[in-house]
Amino acid sequence: MEVTGFAVAIMAAGKGTRLKSKRSKVLHEVGGRALLLHVIAAARTLVRAEDIYCIVGHEADRVRAAVAFTGVNFVLQEVQLGTGHAMQVLKAHLQLPGNRAPRHLLVLSGDVPLIRPETLASLCELHLLESAAMTILTAVPPDPTGYGRVLRRSPASPEVTAIVEQKALTREQLHSPEINSGIYCFNTEALFSKLSMLSTENAHGEFYLTDVAAMLVADGRRVVALKAESVDEVLGANTIAEAMHLDQAMRAAAARRLMAEGVTIFRPDTCVIDAEVSVGPDTIIEPYVQLLGATQIGSDCRIRSYSVIQNSTLADNVTVRNGCILDGAQVGDGAVLGPYAHLRPESNIGADAHVGNFCETKKTTLGRGSKANHLTYLGDAVIGAGVNVGAGVITCNYDGVHKHTTTIGDNVFVGSDSTLVAPISIGDGAYVGAGSCITLPVPADALAIGRAQQVTKEGWAAKRRAAGTAAKKV
Ligand code: UD1
Ligand code: CA
Repeated sequence: MEVTGFAVAIMAAGKGTRLKSKRSKVLHEVGGRALLLHVIAAARTLVRAEDIYCIVGHEADRVRAAVAFTGVNFVLQEVQLGTGHAMQVLKAHLQLPGNRAPRHLLVLSGDVPLIRPETLASLCELHLLESAAMTILTAVPPDPTGYGRVLRRSPASPEVTAIVEQKALTREQLHSPEINSGIYCFNTEALFSKLSMLSTENAHGEFYLTDVAAMLVADGRRVVALKAESVDEVLGANTIAEAMHLDQAMRAAAARRLMAEGVTIFRPDTCVIDAEVSVGPDTIIEPYVQLLGATQIGSDCRIRSYSVIQNSTLADNVTVRNGCILDGAQVGDGAVLGPYAHLRPESNIGADAHVGNFCETKKTTLGRGSKANHLTYLGDAVIGAGVNVGAGVITCNYDGVHKHTTTIGDNVFVGSDSTLVAPISIGDGAYVGAGSCITLPVPADALAIGRAQQVTKEGWAAKRRAAGTAAKKV
């Protein structure tokens, strides 16, 4: 889906006073990512990143840093004098030598994140079809309070006469149900011809972009409106409560999408699933699970309650028991994790491997069928296949300055409560006795025991008890 002759402007300079936050409104997150990133993603489905202009102002450096990776242009609106002023700043930028204004401009609001690409495409299409100077996206929500209202020439007419902001509504207009979404197409020349005529004589003392509608109509130019199919997609996030409402809508949509693809999600209302997450059919997701970022899960897996999985890839038939935390992990077919396992970045768990209760892994490869089932820390380790890592085993990977690697071959048995002081290697088929502190390499098929010799004193306890009894009698 691409539109030609259009550039996209995204208004993202406002402070967002109603959020009562020191952070820029457009960096507040819904559905796991900043509001502005949702809007940029929608815009990118229609035009190239070079044709997108983000108007930034409040917290401009932070906003830029957060979205620069998308490759969009930034235009600085140093003081924010209203949406009309944002367009004045854009006009000045596009008129700089070397820049070229597009024929049409699609204007989006950085705080309206649910907008669907299909809707934007329909808006652009109608704009061209109607040869309009301005085309406004509207909706009819249950409660229009707070939004600007779009007044049509007559109820059935596509033609608009004006947009009136909430505070300027007359008594009769108070009940007009159709709201301005803050999303428009403009003929760029028509828009630019009116910007210098905007005034700040209104309730907010701002330059309103919305005033352009009536000005164009007064010139006999065509201004039309398109009603969005769903109300949710044009809702703004002006308060935290509104943002959380959008978040919920996005999560619900993500869960519905996965269920449509054959995933069972018990109590989807309790799960937090980001938009980019993919899950294979016949996987079962229990209540209170979070699947975040670029997580990919195969089919026939079971993700039990209270697990949080972020930016991780799970193959098929994986069981994640209750309360696991995965971040940047790769997990092979048939592996079993948890309960309460913590897989940190660059953990690579092989097929049919087990990482059990209260085990932590980091930058560690655990080979096929290997098991670390209880109370273990494996960091900076390369562990082969068929290895048994006993309860409480620790890789001592850090010497206070540098991190070092532990290498363990195939079919090794590491006895419980052993500490492996890296850099260290243990050859294939070797045994490490329980409670060992291993500081020297262990060759293949050897047994290494690194613990103090046991001392046994026959009758010692009985004597002590007897001495105690004698003392009491005195
Ligand atoms: C605006 C519309 C209103 C519409 C509503 C839809 C105007 C005057 N009103 O009101 O008709 O119903 O959106 O959500 O446009 N911004 C800038 N620079 C500024 C001011 C704002 O870039 O100087 C940005 C904001 O960051 C925001 C967007 O423009 O992303 C809209 O601004 P906001 O103050 O939220 O406008 P609303 O009061 O919601
Ligand atoms: Ca708004």
